[in-house]
Amino acid sequence: MLALIPETAPFTDEQRAWLNGFVAGLLGAERALAGADAAQAASPVGSVSAETLPWHDPTLALDARMDLAAGRPLELKLMAAMGQLDCGQCGYECRSYAAVIADRSETDLGKCVPGGRATAKKLKELTAQAGDVHPAVAVSGAATAVPRQMPERGYGRDASVPARLVSSLPLTGAGAEKETRHVVFDLAGTGLRYVPGDSLGIWPKNNPDEVELLIAILRAKGSEAVTLASGAVVSARDALSRECDLRMPSSELYALLAREAGDDVDRSRLAALAEDDAGADTFGVHDVLDVLLEFPSARPRIGEVVRTLGRIQPRLYSIASSQRKHPSEVHLTVGVLRYERNDRAHHGTSSNFLAEHLRPGRSASVFVQKSHGFRLPADPCAPVIMVGPGTGIAPFRSFLQEREAFGAPGRNWLFFGNQRRETDFLYRDELEDLAQKRILTRMDLAFSRDQMNKTYVQHKMLEAAQELWRWLAGGAYLYVCGDAKRMAGDVDLALRQIAVMQGGMDAATAKRYLGDLARDGRYQRDVY
Ligand SMILES: Cc1cc2nc3c(=O)[nH]c(=O)nc-3n(C[C@H](O)[C@H](O)[C@H](O)COP(=O)(O)OP(=O)(O)OC[C@H]3O[C@@H](n4cnc5c(N)ncnc54)[C@H](O)[C@@H]3O)c2cc1C
Ligand SMILES: NC(=O)c1ccc[n+]([C@@H]2O[C@H](COP(=O)([O-])OP(=O)(O)OC[C@H]3O[C@@H](n4cnc5c(N)ncnc54)[C@H](OP(=O)(O)O)[C@@H]3O)[C@@H](O)[C@H]2O)c1
Repeated sequence: MLALIPETAPFTDEQRAWLNGFVAGLLGAERALAGADAAQAASPVGSVSAETLPWHDPTLALDARMDLAAGRPLELKLMAAMGQLDCGQCGYECRSYAAVIADRSETDLGKCVPGGRATAKKLKELTAQAGDVHPAVAVSGAATAVPRQMPERGYGRDASVPARLVSSLPLTGAGAEKETRHVVFDLAGTGLRYVPGDSLGIWPKNNPDEVELLIAILRAKGSEAVTLASGAVVSARDALSRECDLRMPSSELYALLAREAGDDVDRSRLAALAEDDAGADTFGVHDVLDVLLEFPSARPRIGEVVRTLGRIQPRLYSIASSQRKHPSEVHLTVGVLRYERNDRAHHGTSSNFLAEHLRPGRSASVFVQKSHGFRLPADPCAPVIMVGPGTGIAPFRSFLQEREAFGAPGRNWLFFGNQRRETDFLYRDELEDLAQKRILTRMDLAFSRDQMNKTYVQHKMLEAAQELWRWLAGGAYLYVCGDAKRMAGDVDLALRQIAVMQGGMDAATAKRYLGDLARDGRYQRDVY
């Protein structure tokens, strides 16, 4: 049962359970559907998507998206397999990336980072079913054959520029369960311009310890010359460090190792994995290092291994600063991804590059990724409501800096949430200062793990429903940033509930109301 009625609302458990059921029923509260409606309306593909692209919704799981695309032409099925963010990280929008794969002018099936392994696998499966000859994932440096306009320097993945890291400091306190960092790059000399709502793209480098371990396991020196698919010749160390994806083992890697394995059992397991790696995790295999550790009888030459690996991809981060306040800097709010798998610690490539490996004073390749429509209102008097739990706070720090520096008279309301007030109240001093100065008209906080029952931003929105409705009636713009899979759908549901309860609407009208709000640019989402 969805928790639509806040734990703090004055009801008994029994009443709350009944009300949750009642409201869920009233809203037809199937989470996926709720998300789909808002995403369709808010989507840049907008008007076409509502009827023709129902899977274009980042809150839907891959299987649900593929069900919605069943029976459609290959291109649309390929589109449904994408992450549905239209974030531009792959160099396309979801639909145009699908189109170039379908017409075979794009051979790299591993470009959609938001979709992750699941998307890469589905793309491979779909192209294979279509009798295509696409490789599993990109082979290093695989080129895009689509004739494309020359990108402006610094804008987009194909035109990155070097920027110097100024600092990367923890925002979370000691004892936090997840680390979040404030990362600052110096843009001096790059000429880069951005506006609130844009993202910064980073071409990360792989963990140098992991690279050295791979070189040692392959009994190589690292100085061996290897040829990339682009034809460039670089050292094996450079290739593993900055050209190759070490997260997702490709079927080409499994096939190569199967050919090289001295042990019969290894050979047959590797051959099976080359056919279908669905069971890889059960073999204890999660990334490239795992594969080499798990199958010690297969030790091909390092150059051959490099040629089977996918190409490393850039990562996007919502920009957390305004150039009105920081003319030659860009700030990011980076959640550092660390998790355990198969008794091994795994570290997210880019977040750990920014947290641990890139030293202040050294440069990274970066680019500005223009937003597809996550923008402050043109009218500086318009009120703004921002919902940004966790790293979702990033663009709202930028919004607030911009509005303060511009002297925008519009009111600003922030809903922020995270695990614990003590350790996870990101930018606490700054936000409290903005509240003191009345730049931040109102701030509602949801620290989920500070009490027995989880309190989330949408619960705070429901508690403040009357006031929130007044703001919307007064022309407020509503923004949501952060987790796509759980938070964005639940926040959307809470908004519908507010429209029903405060606006006296029925479920269908509430749904239409949010759709209209999104079409008018007054309900915008930047979720990932
Ligand atoms: C438009 C946009 C804006 C973004 N803004 C921000 C932002 O402001 N701040 C921010 O921190 N991030 C942001 N992100 C996410 C960011 O781009 C990266 O995806 C994130 O930092 C993780 O990248 P990584 O390289 O560290 O991890 P990767 O090396 O890419 O690893 C991620 C992969 O690890 C695997 N994985 C993760 N957890 C587990 C687990 N528990 N068990 C098994 N496997 C797991 C999954 O396969 C996942 O795809 C944004 C993304 C987009 C598209
Ligand atoms: N693609 C990637 O590899 C990658 C890497 C990093 C981050 N991310 C994603 O980026 C997003 C932001 O991550 P983050 O670490 O900053 O924060 P987060 O995981 O979104 O957590 C922020 C707050 O939101 C709460 N929350 C959990 N479920 C919620 C829901 N349904 N509705 C509202 N709030 C909810 C959390 O509570 P509890 O945790 O106490 O439940 C926590 O208090 C997440 O989606 C994360 O998965 C993705």
